[in-house]
Amino acid sequence: MTQQATAPQLKKHTIWQSGRTPDPCAIVLFGATGDLAQRKILPTLAHLIHDHPQPETICIVAFARRPLGDDGWRSMVLDSLDKYMPADDKLDDAGKQAFAQRLFYCQSNFDEDEGYQRLKQLLEKLDKEQGTGGNRLYYLATPPDTDVEIINHLGKAGLAQPASSAQNGNGNGNGKKPWVHIITEKPFGHDLESAKALNKVIGSVFREDQIYRIDHYMGKETVQNIIAFRFANSIMEPLWNQKYIDHIQIVVAESLGIENRAEYYEHAGAIKDIVQNHVMQILSLTAMEPPADFSANDIRDEKVKVLRAICAMTPEQVAERTVRGQYTAGVLDGQRVIGYKEEKGVDPNSTTDTYVALKLYIENWRWADVPIYIRTGKRLPKRSTEVMVQFKRVPHQLYSQEEMKGMKPNRLILRIQPEEGISLLIGAKKPGAANDLSTIDLDASYKTVFGIELPEAYERLIADCILGDSTLFIRRDEIEESWRIIDSITNAWKQMGPETVYPYPAGTWGPKEADELIAKDGREWVNP
Ligand code: BG6
Repeated sequence: MTQQATAPQLKKHTIWQSGRTPDPCAIVLFGATGDLAQRKILPTLAHLIHDHPQPETICIVAFARRPLGDDGWRSMVLDSLDKYMPADDKLDDAGKQAFAQRLFYCQSNFDEDEGYQRLKQLLEKLDKEQGTGGNRLYYLATPPDTDVEIINHLGKAGLAQPASSAQNGNGNGNGKKPWVHIITEKPFGHDLESAKALNKVIGSVFREDQIYRIDHYMGKETVQNIIAFRFANSIMEPLWNQKYIDHIQIVVAESLGIENRAEYYEHAGAIKDIVQNHVMQILSLTAMEPPADFSANDIRDEKVKVLRAICAMTPEQVAERTVRGQYTAGVLDGQRVIGYKEEKGVDPNSTTDTYVALKLYIENWRWADVPIYIRTGKRLPKRSTEVMVQFKRVPHQLYSQEEMKGMKPNRLILRIQPEEGISLLIGAKKPGAANDLSTIDLDASYKTVFGIELPEAYERLIADCILGDSTLFIRRDEIEESWRIIDSITNAWKQMGPETVYPYPAGTWGPKEADELIAKDGREWVNP
């Protein structure tokens, strides 16, 4: 790893849970030549295979339209590894060549029956020659409108279930039956109806336990740490409710704009791009009840109960509790940046939200009347994701206003990125004769405390999918509950005029209307 001279060397993380050995398998990538696969998935797989070697083979098959062949595909991937692998993960030549030998290409359109037959033959060949053992992982890194086509074709070609010829073992010599898993990328639908329709199609071809709906936030170490923090420590649980908590803020701030993703983003906006998935996942982990145990279904049962307890908003509530914004030209890190409407591919009259602030309530015993404030936006001053829990004031204040003026409320901040860690603000008396109070920050950074590099979210999730652990993936009912909430907001927005998309200059924390949203409750945003 390249480190600054004074920075301590971080130890490598482990990736295969509890030392479990992954089965050999073939990963079939749909959308293999696309941006997500080239920038993210392939570099992640290269790192996974190189840094966490397994005794068994993993082969990666591209199912794509371009006439590349194995050689063309291999050189395309090697170029992408050079471009996109982080500097401290780069592979040497031998590592790259070893990875290239695992890459295979199946040329086909997504709607071509014979293409899936060729895929079947190739996979059988890899089972025989490379020892992939009949285990398959289909990874749909494709535009959402192609998913149904691919899923139906996989079903029709008999590729959705393990081949019967492989029933007696997975080639791993462990007598386990071979498996077939499928990963679907976000967006999973664009509203409740389309998500339900997609669930129906995928559910007619694959069993739920074969389906891995990915939300990369669930792969972030710090998001998983919300569970450990809450359920491994006895001191937090008694305080984690409406009796002691005044409110919660969740912020997902990005300094990036929309890059070259206008076509997708124009239809999504911040509410569907970030709130529907990443924020809802963080929120459900923050607010869920303790699960009976750590099984995938017990955890997801508790998460979905949180979502169920969030009522759909009425149009009046949407007008009162949500603010959407759109960035205009501004200055970020000393650089002038253009406004959203000037971005390539964006409609000059676009009303797409690049910023959302909103207030939700979880209507159950634990959270009754505790507002949850959510903010997300592009082109904000910095990249930061945090959960901030603000505790109530003491029931009877002994100190005067004057003595208290240097003290902030008690706050617990779970920093998800980029400086991953936890910080707790507590009041303390300043040394000296006066009774003046101040705030001290008990702060711990995960990297400093553990000295271990944090795994990349995608790496963790792909590894879990190979192992067959769906705990960190999104279940059918979670997706649908989350869309139910989001639909109530977006449907009301459709009835509201373009003047309710408030402008904010790039490099600021959003429109002033968002400040008013929280100020009218006598509170303020806590910026990271
Ligand atoms: C993706 C969104 O899901 O998450 C992007 O589509 C966003 O618009 C990204 O930039 C943020 O992810 P991270 O891991 O950088 O916080």
